[in-house]
Amino acid sequence: MKISVIGCGYLGAVHAVCMAELGHEVVGVDVDPNKIAMLNRGEAPFFEPGLPELLEKLADIRASGRLSFSTDISAARGAQVHFVAVGTPQKKGSNAADLTYVDAAVEALLPVLSAGDIVVGKSTVPVGTAARLAQRVVEGAPGAILAWNPEFLREGFALKDTLTPDRLVYGVPAGSDGDAAVAALDSVYSVALENDTPRIVTDYATAELVKVSANAFLATKISFINAMAEVCEATGADVTQLADAIGHDVRIGRRFLNAGLGFGGGCLPKDIRAFMARADELGVDQALSFLSDVDAINLRRRTRMVELAREVVGGDLTGKRIAVLGLAFKPNSDDVRDSPALSVAAELASSGAIVVATDPEAIETSRARNHDLHLVETVEEAAAGADAVLILTEWQEYRDLDPETLGGIVGNRAILDGRNCLVPSQWRDAGWTYRALGRP
Ligand code: UGA
Repeated sequence: MKISVIGCGYLGAVHAVCMAELGHEVVGVDVDPNKIAMLNRGEAPFFEPGLPELLEKLADIRASGRLSFSTDISAARGAQVHFVAVGTPQKKGSNAADLTYVDAAVEALLPVLSAGDIVVGKSTVPVGTAARLAQRVVEGAPGAILAWNPEFLREGFALKDTLTPDRLVYGVPAGSDGDAAVAALDSVYSVALENDTPRIVTDYATAELVKVSANAFLATKISFINAMAEVCEATGADVTQLADAIGHDVRIGRRFLNAGLGFGGGCLPKDIRAFMARADELGVDQALSFLSDVDAINLRRRTRMVELAREVVGGDLTGKRIAVLGLAFKPNSDDVRDSPALSVAAELASSGAIVVATDPEAIETSRARNHDLHLVETVEEAAAGADAVLILTEWQEYRDLDPETLGGIVGNRAILDGRNCLVPSQWRDAGWTYRALGRP
């Protein structure tokens, strides 16, 4: 099929490249000329494992024009399916989602649409958005049809999640338009469907809600275990053992029960806030009031981490040298949007500490967000003479650190494990003070 993808960020660029890998003819469109130039050169504009290799693998397809990128929306003309994959960030000064980019993408598409074209929203939007946009499509491009097909990919696993999704959700209008949208999406996803991927066909509102409720559930699971971590801290219990023990119950499950600094990134934090804002508008704010606790528990972990750091350096951070290992919101990503690690690093610096921070991939993205941090390339530079070392993102290379080697570099053997990713006994046996969130 001929497909266009509007928006070439983490979601859209991966979607475009994966659709080409599945055999479709794809044009990706974005307003950022740098991003488009990089993609056309076969370079990934952000860090995502496997993306550079897949772009390289598709070199011939790119050369033949069957996978191309453009800043000109008219390049989308002639495609049968148009995915809208632009961002919906948190609005400044409010919990609500900013729909400016989604609205602009749909408006820009209208003149290039033909009757029978399917516009497919992938962005995470407040419930009710698709119905509103469907009306715009009816008015602005007669005969074109809107569908909503939420995306569940995780950064770091984006290619796998796109090529082999664990489910497909289609929100479509009733009647023959809905049938046409389902048929088009079935053709797009024929490979996944042949592999028995579950497919749920539903209305717009349910499809929109599936996405935000999935993220709300995941955020709640993480904050639940972090609430248990707070209780563990007050009682001397160990939250990692607690998570293992309750996780054996298949009804609970061990995944997303890793206690630590909590969730960040471009999705979970802003999605739960936008969900609360939308529930408020709908008069069902009470139904989601627990999400404000989920948010508060999550943010308290960052404060607790700063307190722990203050404690291990003797009660005053002023002038203390703190090594921060990890800035990305999670490993295998260079994304620092609402990153717990970056926020702790910034808070330590504003409390008077001399923070020297590093990350395997997120130095440039961190620099773009916070000009005041002292950023270095290596663990050795960050840890040299440090009064305390903080692991704030659990990159494998930090999990693998050797206590003896690192002990030879630091000023004081004190380590704070913000992600419960180290084996405490290994560090204590090597003479380190080991502290973690939710662990004795
Ligand atoms: C999340 C969802 O997992 C995806 O399904 C969804 O498609 C995506 O948002 C989105 O809406 O686009 P992502 O933001 O890539 O994906 O990251 P996650 O893997 O969910 O991690 C989110 C945060 O939770 C990270 O900061 C991570 O460190 C933290 N986390 C995760 C924990 O603190 N504990 C855990 O047990 C798991």
